[in-house]
Amino acid sequence: MTHKHSALRSKTAGFRFVDFLRREESFEEAFLDGMKASPRAIPCRFLYDAQGSALFDRICTLPEYYPTRTELSILEAHAGDIAKIIGPGAALIELGSGSSIKTRLLLDRMEAPAAYMPIDVSREHLRAAANGLAGDYPEIDVIAVCADYSAHFPLPAVDGRRVGFFPGSTIGNLTHGEARLLLAGWRERLGADGLMVVGVDLKKDPSRLLAAYDDAEGVTEAFIKNVLARANRELGADFDLSAFRYDVAWNEEAGRIEMRLEALADQSVAVAGERLFIGAGERIHIENSHKYAVEEFSALARRAGFSPRAVYIDPERLFSVHVLAAG
Ligand code: TRP
Repeated sequence: MTHKHSALRSKTAGFRFVDFLRREESFEEAFLDGMKASPRAIPCRFLYDAQGSALFDRICTLPEYYPTRTELSILEAHAGDIAKIIGPGAALIELGSGSSIKTRLLLDRMEAPAAYMPIDVSREHLRAAANGLAGDYPEIDVIAVCADYSAHFPLPAVDGRRVGFFPGSTIGNLTHGEARLLLAGWRERLGADGLMVVGVDLKKDPSRLLAAYDDAEGVTEAFIKNVLARANRELGADFDLSAFRYDVAWNEEAGRIEMRLEALADQSVAVAGERLFIGAGERIHIENSHKYAVEEFSALARRAGFSPRAVYIDPERLFSVHVLAAG
């Protein structure tokens, strides 16, 4: 069901949709593999179906969840400085097409940006976001790329300096090793004069971190449990969501928030015609969110071959936006 080089066109001459996804990844296969692994773990990309994406949008507006609004405030204050480093005629390449508000803050300050290239696996979300942006910026070439930004695919050619944009502290959802590999891969793609702008959540008082991932309203819990709800909806599973407890912890040694589900009782669950036995107290790992001190992230970027150029931080020192040079 892939739409190879979609026929969809906007009014702008410069809108392209390029599709590198051969097939949708099977949720059934990944879910069963993850539930049979030891320890049990579900890859977090499966959290974002329509319901999950709506819950995640709510997380971003929660009083306890400071990263989204803090990163926005940093970009509002420093988009001009970042645009000055970028210079004229550059191509902005976004890893994950996310909220276009952050993108627009940068594009609005950049001098005559040549192109905007959002990369995302979620085809319809990507199409809508890219189309909306193309309509509002008729002078910019928009090249929507349906692909996994952490996979190998031939990056379409663009004019101008290539600037990777990776906001939202999504890099924190990778391990340090994975983050280094992702950055090193992008450094090659961006070329010798390339830049990378990365949003990174900072280490801070663990109680503040824990609150951000365990809000009073229980939206984060619902978001994490949605992966079981999704299995009920799509795989004919019969998970009892109340038989699982949302378990969130700060792992000091690994420098990360860990989000898991813990079974409250022995249970036997049907999933896609199979039967899973889960013992009381057993945990299913769902998501990590690594936090970095400024110097710690700069060191990781250096190990990936980048030279840190600038870093912007809010007055409360909650969040950081790093500008890295590929050369
Ligand atoms: N990358 C963000 C973070 O780690 C957003 C995020 C990913 C998130 N998974 C999450 C937020 C689970 C809350 C719960 O903060």
